Amino acid sequence: MTEALGEASGKVILLGEHAVVYGAPALAAGIERGARARATRCSGASALLLGGRELRAAPAEEDVARAFAALLGALPDVGPVRVEAESDLPPGGGLGSSAALAVAIARSVAALARAPAASARTASEGAAAAHTAADAAAVTDAAAAWERVFHGNPSGIDTTAAARGGCFRFTRAHGATSVAPRDDLWLCVGSTGVSSSTRSMVELVARLFERKPTLAATSIAGITALVENAAFAIEAGDAVALGRLMDLNQMLLAGMFVSTEAIEALCKLAREAGALGAKLTGAGGGGSVIALLPPPPPGNRGAAASNGAADRVLAAWRDAGYSGF
Ligand code: PMV
Repeated sequence: MTEALGEASGKVILLGEHAVVYGAPALAAGIERGARARATRCSGASALLLGGRELRAAPAEEDVARAFAALLGALPDVGPVRVEAESDLPPGGGLGSSAALAVAIARSVAALARAPAASARTASEGAAAAHTAADAAAVTDAAAAWERVFHGNPSGIDTTAAARGGCFRFTRAHGATSVAPRDDLWLCVGSTGVSSSTRSMVELVARLFERKPTLAATSIAGITALVENAAFAIEAGDAVALGRLMDLNQMLLAGMFVSTEAIEALCKLAREAGALGAKLTGAGGGGSVIALLPPPPPGNRGAAASNGAADRVLAAWRDAGYSGF
């Protein structure tokens, strides 16, 4: 059977969420957790298998099915396809679950389109084909079409992170440019346990900014300065400065009313347990926080498990009833 695989990473926004929607820069990094998809040709209507459910692209009766139809419509026609997809990112968790699924699905379908129908390609050949430069633009467009179904005005940072991974600076006007960390960044991700809607949070900020344009301009200017300084800190390997800049970004986000009690509690617990800085990541209103850890001592930088600071932050969250990784 002809089949093709696609995969994509989740992301954390290190600094700059929400402001990025208004043209300001943001910093993001791909994480190891992500999404995977397997596409095969089928007869009848195209279908997406996700979370134990089968959703038909036509008639598309719910948002995920509409998003799948929009994604397929933005790719070269491959005929009816059946795509099985899975993600190890929590939906509504601020870790780019939806974008990672979109990019993984689009990659699998783009790879299938390039596979000769009669040949039995191996899964790894299919996955490799999906990563060719020729597919990259089509995959990004298809993932953007998927994202627009859920979120009217996406900046594109989530789909960019899902497609490229790594650490990068992003603006709507200029896309991504790599930021090269001098040292590895060690982060813990904590979950509020509350799923949040990116669309609602972006709309909340839009309403606030309509009513208070001066607040909007001041917040965006402040976040822009923090993001540019943070890019310097990352490239200089100054984790202490980066942590302070993350804390300041969290204060500005709280001033835009996108923080919650659980987000503030997770950040406080992390700082008390030794994190250099902590903030929400993604849209806020629930979702996840990131905590920046002191780098492990030189000579002991191999395994994440050897970072005692991570253990302390995760234990503090666990004792307070929150999960993290
Ligand atoms: O919650 P997430 O992972 O979808 O991140 C959204 C980031 C925002 O800046 C709030 C929205 C956007 O489109 O950039």
